[in-house]
Amino acid sequence: MIAIVTGANQGIGLEVVRQLADLGHTVVLTSRNEQKGRAALDQVNNPNVHYHQLDVTDKASILRFKEYVLKQFGRLDILVNNAGINYDVWHNVLNADLDNVRDTIETNLYGPWEMIKAFAPVMEKNNYGRIVNVSSGAGAISSMPSNTPGYGVSKAALNVLTIKASGVLSDYNILVNSVCPGWVRTNMGGEAAPRSVAKGAETIVWAATLDDGSPTGRFFRDKKEIPF
Ligand SMILES: NC(=O)c1ccc[n+]([C@@H]2O[C@H](COP(=O)([O-])OP(=O)(O)OC[C@H]3O[C@@H](n4cnc5c(N)ncnc54)[C@H](OP(=O)(O)O)[C@@H]3O)[C@@H](O)[C@H]2O)c1
Repeated sequence: MIAIVTGANQGIGLEVVRQLADLGHTVVLTSRNEQKGRAALDQVNNPNVHYHQLDVTDKASILRFKEYVLKQFGRLDILVNNAGINYDVWHNVLNADLDNVRDTIETNLYGPWEMIKAFAPVMEKNNYGRIVNVSSGAGAISSMPSNTPGYGVSKAALNVLTIKASGVLSDYNILVNSVCPGWVRTNMGGEAAPRSVAKGAETIVWAATLDDGSPTGRFFRDKKEIPF
């Protein structure tokens, strides 16, 4: 299997790369900053892992990356939309900076959307695909807090993208699911978070490797379905 992971120079994304590579998959570790990404590649030190630059907010970068994937591997099986920004936990809708909110939506929603537009047609050709959108409980409409206005809106919209993409792609054996990794010790989650990156990555890797006929268009945490 050929897998790509966005925002993988650190945190949960880097751990997803590690776990997929340990399962024997060929994985492309991507990062918007090439220096950081190459340092992460050295850290992983696994021949199954390759590197390419990718900024999910830059369409030209996405197209260059797509060309690389097609030339190098000729197919794609797994897309993990992990890159995410701006856990604006100290803000609410009244004191939110809408320029920040726009940037957040650009990365957390339009990034994954552009990636799906670019790579779902590549998956369709082989009648196989697994797309995981790394979401958050902060984006669950059924239990939404009033803080994290930009982040929450962006992740709720990402969940809608999951549902809509799953409907279009189900005829091609392409499963599209959202996963909440839980509260994880990363730059975003902070040191007080109870979960290790290994635990945070676990359900993402599980959703990225589901058997044919498994659920699609759903939201998972700890390998169990949770309400949107
Ligand atoms: N940690 C948690 O508790 C938690 C909880 C729920 C959901 N999540 C989600 O899990 C995912 C990973 O988060 P994390 O905790 O591992 O955070 P992190 O350590 O801050 O990592 C985020 C990654 O995304 C990258 N990124 C940001 N903008 C990008 C862009 N435009 N193009 C490509 N990469 C970009 C960052 O690159 P730079 O290093 O260049 O900034 C970084 O590698 C996110 O989607 C986050 O919302 C995390």
